[in-house]
Amino acid sequence: MYNSRITGLGYYVPDNIVTNDDLSKIIDTNDEWIQERTGIQERRWITEGSEDTSAVMGAKAAKIAIERAGLTPKDIDFIVFATLSPDYYFPGCGVQIQEMLDMRTVGALDVRNQCSGFVYALSVADQFIKTGMYKNILVVGSEFHSGGLDKTTRGRGVSVIFGDGAGAAVLSRSEDSTRGILSSHLHSEGKHAEELTVLAPSIRHWVPAILAANDASDESYFPYMNGTFVFKHAVVRFSEVIMEGLKTNNLDVSDIDMLIPHQANLRISQFIQNKFKLTDDQVFNNIMKYGNTTAASVIIALTEAWELGKIKDNDLVVLAAFGSGFTWGSVVIRW
Ligand code: UT7
Repeated sequence: MYNSRITGLGYYVPDNIVTNDDLSKIIDTNDEWIQERTGIQERRWITEGSEDTSAVMGAKAAKIAIERAGLTPKDIDFIVFATLSPDYYFPGCGVQIQEMLDMRTVGALDVRNQCSGFVYALSVADQFIKTGMYKNILVVGSEFHSGGLDKTTRGRGVSVIFGDGAGAAVLSRSEDSTRGILSSHLHSEGKHAEELTVLAPSIRHWVPAILAANDASDESYFPYMNGTFVFKHAVVRFSEVIMEGLKTNNLDVSDIDMLIPHQANLRISQFIQNKFKLTDDQVFNNIMKYGNTTAASVIIALTEAWELGKIKDNDLVVLAAFGSGFTWGSVVIRW
């Protein structure tokens, strides 16, 4: 069996910065509430008329990751693309990126696991590499949230949290058995599906019904989140799945050099940090700048941490995520 290593990382966020004060001009909210509850100071939102979409941002991040891996798009054997905000209801963004980067007719798999999307996607790629089926896999997480948020006071519990952006990693075959992805751990609990969801459009709530109803008061097109409920589950599941990853590899919390948690809420990250008694140097957060970018958040944070020199060879890096589904997961990496 082979090992798999991340050989290239890249991210892209739109230029347009939206501060909490900007939001308070269109929504009944304020900087103090947002910072106190979430730690978010600003986020990036695609401007109207921009070429950016989930697929386009994903392609921009992917170009950087592929170049940093010392490869060209023609060297990629498979694509895994995670998003909850695809350009089309179908097909998924994976095929768009195949076309945009002029890649060979390689397989493209779309992952629909929301905030856990990148962790799931990386885990899938890891299996393909380890079994020897592929040598280089492009793994992308990208979200265009701002186009689908309820930017009125009605939606303030959700809209202020989410941001747009994309990240990408190249996962490559390695003969070095001491480094690379050590293990991954994936979970779900579908009974909580409607605690963090967009209900429509869906096959049950399809386009003719939308057009016929044309009801401006229908909130089912906007993300709904039972925030407190989700928060309570998030802190438990994050802790569990991090420990699961460490125990599988006979490691302990003290072995963690860098924890990259999904950037859902700074308070959740801080809770985990305190619980595991990790120092500020052992946990990376950037939600302050980007908000919650869902499937893009772990890979944007990983890329930024790496670019800042916070991840070194042989470091033990743990990625962990929790989100809609509920789904959650972790990946343990010897860098
Ligand atoms: O990424 C996927 C996983 N997601 C998460 O893990 C998110 C988990 N949940 C959370 O992070 C938090 O629950 C939130 C940040 C979403 C909300 O924080 P909260 O402390 O649970 O607030 P709340 O929803 O209980 O709302 C408290 C109050 C309410 O007013 P009343 O009923 O107490 O009068 C809300 O109407 O805050 C009000 N509120 C706001 N006020 C100003 C809700 N949103 C806003 C807002 N600005 N944007």
